[in-house]
Amino acid sequence: MTSTNHTSIFSPVQLGPLTLRNRIIKAATFEGMAIDNMVTDALVDFHKAFAEGRIGMTTLAYCAVSPDGQGAPNEIVVREDAVPGLRYFVDAMHNLDVAASMQLGHAGPVGMGIGGRAISASKVFSKSRFKNTSPATEDELLRVINDFEHAAALAAKSGFDCLELHFGHGYLISNFLSPKLNKRKDGWGGSLENRARLARTIAKRVKSVVPDTMAVIAKINLDDGVKKGFKVDECVEVARMLESDGTLDALELTGGSSFENPMYFFRGDVPVHEMAEIFPKGIMRTGFKLTAKKFMPYYPFEEAYFLEQAQKVRAAVDMPLILLGGINNVETIELALREGFDFVAMGRALLREPDLVKKWEAGIAAEGQCIHCNKCMPSIYQGTHCFLVPHEERPGHGKWPPPVAKKVGIND
Ligand SMILES: Cc1cc2nc3c(=O)[nH]c(=O)nc-3n(C[C@H](O)[C@H](O)[C@H](O)COP(=O)(O)O)c2cc1C
Repeated sequence: MTSTNHTSIFSPVQLGPLTLRNRIIKAATFEGMAIDNMVTDALVDFHKAFAEGRIGMTTLAYCAVSPDGQGAPNEIVVREDAVPGLRYFVDAMHNLDVAASMQLGHAGPVGMGIGGRAISASKVFSKSRFKNTSPATEDELLRVINDFEHAAALAAKSGFDCLELHFGHGYLISNFLSPKLNKRKDGWGGSLENRARLARTIAKRVKSVVPDTMAVIAKINLDDGVKKGFKVDECVEVARMLESDGTLDALELTGGSSFENPMYFFRGDVPVHEMAEIFPKGIMRTGFKLTAKKFMPYYPFEEAYFLEQAQKVRAAVDMPLILLGGINNVETIELALREGFDFVAMGRALLREPDLVKKWEAGIAAEGQCIHCNKCMPSIYQGTHCFLVPHEERPGHGKWPPPVAKKVGIND
């Protein structure tokens, strides 16, 4: 075990071909600030707040590879006419000396789908949509792989430094990894090798179209947090496969499932009341309240709550790893680095205090002020924010919601 100190946290560091200012990555926290699936000034301002707070790299949260891959309203769908706005986003980050990463995914069973069809590995009842999901056909899977490749090429064209492939949280690729949810009898199901085929194929195809100057990473579950789901032993094996493929510059380790168990990746208070407000009044809202305890069980918050599981992956592969989940203190980052992790990713602590890293760098305020109330979770439907931050100080909020729909690169 190597010793570490503040210098190594805040010194420039390589992530694949990139040099980041420091080891702290702003984790994807879906912003809900795109209009017509395009970049807006509010979205850019949201990220500028973290960039000004001196993180190493920001993550433009969940961008869908296709319209049916969207997980929520006001999301970016990566396509040619989104490129000017995406380029504007990247330039704004570069002007603040921060690298820009795009999280790319297909929401699969958690998604909005098309014509009521949300694809998944196998047919399964969706508690959030109150209906069955639709098993993806071979042609649909090939289309999804092509969509990832196409979107990756557009991200490169927009100047992004890094792509983060979303292989976690019960979204499409994570759904295929799950032994519980993937009951397919073809080459995409059954053995772990087959269940991991979609993730590996996507990573290979993406790597083949992006320039050598761009980093490619993936966010993958350590544990789905459900009985008979994807567990850490399988994660270790998939990490080994991805490492041997040589397609990724780092793995970001997460857990839980927006499809089955979202609180597993948040921990802390369950914002049942605020979540219920998302549903229209009536049967949907009542149904949610009645099932909330089961769908969203309480897990106590602990600092670095994925550390123990992540250590198993650390012991198995040499590739760079990003520790995520409940990182609020600079001491926790020091611990992560001592344990052999190369980077940390932080979500809620930075929503609470966008300038937390800057304070740490200056030697102020070691303890982050996020209280894990998780009310930021449902805020994605109003322009993501922390409830404890006064309205006028919320990143991007001077410009959200905009008085007139204004997309960067279209109206400008
Ligand atoms: C408001 C909000 C939105 C989120 N949106 C995303 C997302 O778009 N993609 C994703 O992979 N994770 C998303 N997450 C999960 C975070 O990236 C992170 O995994 C989780 O918050 C745990 O890290 P933390 O303890 O540092 O907050 C979101 C979290 C929050 C609070």
